[in-house]
Amino acid sequence: MRAVDIILKKRNGKELTKEEIDFLIEGYTAGNIPDYQVSSFLMSVYFKGMTEEETAHLTNAMVQSGDQIDLSKIEGIKVDKHSTGGVGDKTSLIIGPLVASVGIPVAKMSGRGLGHTGGTVDKLEAIEGFQVELTTQQFIDNVNEHKIAIVGQSGNLTPADKKLYALRDVTGTVDSIPLIASSIMSKKIASGSNAIVLDVKFGSGAFMKTLDDARKLANAMVGIGNKLGRQTIAIITDMGQPLGHEIGNANEVKEAIDVLSGKGDHDLTEVCLTLAGNMAVLGGAYDTFEEAYAGLTDVLKSGKAVEKMRDFVVSQGGNGNQITSPETLPQAAYHIEIKAEAEGNVEAIDAESVGIAAMLLGAGRKTKEDAIDYAVGITLLKKVGDTVAKGDTLAIFHANAEDIAVAEKTLKDAYTFTDKEVPAPELIHDIIK
Ligand code: URA
Repeated sequence: MRAVDIILKKRNGKELTKEEIDFLIEGYTAGNIPDYQVSSFLMSVYFKGMTEEETAHLTNAMVQSGDQIDLSKIEGIKVDKHSTGGVGDKTSLIIGPLVASVGIPVAKMSGRGLGHTGGTVDKLEAIEGFQVELTTQQFIDNVNEHKIAIVGQSGNLTPADKKLYALRDVTGTVDSIPLIASSIMSKKIASGSNAIVLDVKFGSGAFMKTLDDARKLANAMVGIGNKLGRQTIAIITDMGQPLGHEIGNANEVKEAIDVLSGKGDHDLTEVCLTLAGNMAVLGGAYDTFEEAYAGLTDVLKSGKAVEKMRDFVVSQGGNGNQITSPETLPQAAYHIEIKAEAEGNVEAIDAESVGIAAMLLGAGRKTKEDAIDYAVGITLLKKVGDTVAKGDTLAIFHANAEDIAVAEKTLKDAYTFTDKEVPAPELIHDIIK
């Protein structure tokens, strides 16, 4: 077999076989096929697309390129959740303890943040002492004992995806649905869970800018999951503004604690209950989504979910008192009110710009090597649909430096106002099974 023939076949819009895809991915991972040929292949996929069958073969080839986590020593149906990334997305911090409270094992690997998006692992490290590195044995023992463990990505999972992603980044081939779908699903499948719930976001802060593209991506990922023997459900959610009110690290943990205590923001709670409800059905804790939604709502109100969060934090070396008393989480030196310069109704809040403003305050990384300041971040007080008078506080910056001019301008520019009344946006757009 020759790489050039595979490139030509794809360039001419033909369907590749499993053997051809395996040859290309194995050869690339081993260093036998050069970047320039794989770049050409990726560009052919970008223009000609892939069938569901080909996308599943590509995903499988990436899974086979490295280690796969064996979760068979964990009792029960392991259900993983993945979000395609957003701003203010603290859903993993909430859903993990919530579904663990009803006995579903959560064995989760999470990432760090980069650029305008945050990462679950960074947020957890805002809690004093929290360890995101566990040995495989500790990870398995913690899930069996506490029903939950969340660790940073480690080991040699999907090395083909790492190489391909880096190449896509510099060859204009990131935003291809089969390439995104196979990249995400390869990591989920290699992580070892039996079933997967995907939160596919669309809007300014998300990979997919339109509902239509989010639906296509969701369908592609559900197709891959089902073909590779993992029951998969995708929920399509709005990222036309940041999720909830807090963007940062310690302040996002605090907001998660509020939701887990049954006192959280309505929209954030609804997204979490929808994702967790689907996970709980896949995991066998409830028969129907409606029963799961009602049951998990009661769990939030009962105090069981926040108690599970504390138990989980302590099990990974964290200070559980910070969950009981969130005011003891890292606090910034300054709390600066950002005022509206004109009146109007909030029509949109560009989530990416809000993420960048938070990064400029120090809550995120410009480059992989940057350190994070866990105490800083943004509290958004005005959201889409709210009416604002001149001089009203749009947001509060939690900062450790007095010079916030660039971040302030970035945040103000993120808001669009209108004279017309704006209905509160719908959050859950579709559920694809
Ligand atoms: N996230 C991934 O892991 N891969 C992509 O291709 C895009 C987003």
